[in-house]
Amino acid sequence: MKKNFTVIAAGGLGTRLKNYKNNDYTKVLIPIGLTSMISQQIKQLKNWGYDNIVIVTNPEYDKLIKEDVKGNFPNENIEFVIQNEQLGIAHALKQAEPVIDKGSQISFILGDNFFGVNPFANNKSIYSDNSAALVLKKVNNPEDFGVAVLKNSKIVDLIEKPKKFISNYAVLGFYKYEYECFEIIDSLKKSDRGEYEITDLNKKYLNLSKVNYSIFDSWWIDAGTPERIEELSQKLI
Ligand code: G1P
Repeated sequence: MKKNFTVIAAGGLGTRLKNYKNNDYTKVLIPIGLTSMISQQIKQLKNWGYDNIVIVTNPEYDKLIKEDVKGNFPNENIEFVIQNEQLGIAHALKQAEPVIDKGSQISFILGDNFFGVNPFANNKSIYSDNSAALVLKKVNNPEDFGVAVLKNSKIVDLIEKPKKFISNYAVLGFYKYEYECFEIIDSLKKSDRGEYEITDLNKKYLNLSKVNYSIFDSWWIDAGTPERIEELSQKLI
């Protein structure tokens, strides 16, 4: 069996959350109930059996994030890597490469994405053939997310934050890749907003016909705004 690593992107600065709950630090340290967002995330991932955790932080808050995580999980062997420049989610994933064994599978989760159940619990087969595996869910605000266009039950296009309606299937912030993803990330070009987009990585897989998906039917929250954080606090209590 291939070794599985779990990478958490925790480097986002949460600019939409400035001053929320005195948040002059970083999004993943915002308390959800009694615990920080990042520690809630780790707790949930561990309950679902995810292991070999690697956290991607940013230079400014690396120390605080480490303190929080090590305080809550003193016996856990968690790796930390720093994303020195805020160059997007695919770039954040790339920072984990040095601490991941060659040939491994990678579960990649965005630190602010929370799920009612493990989205990959019953879908082991969908990521066993060097493909990327995505999780989709119908939403009312697709313009806020990456979306997948489906035709005859197949993904035919992936678009980051579409300005015009094209699909209401959001691509959720939990992905499965194989080690080859790092090489594919090297071939990405910066988007118009100057980032290496996770949607562009997924599009590369799509062009190789190596993208699978499942539809998620439990609750999902991208805790990027005060309202959604309040909603998450209710769910996790
Ligand atoms: C990111 C991704 C987007 C994805 C979303 C899920 O957007 O770029 O493709 O659908 O996470 O939460 P962000 O929320 O960082 O703007």
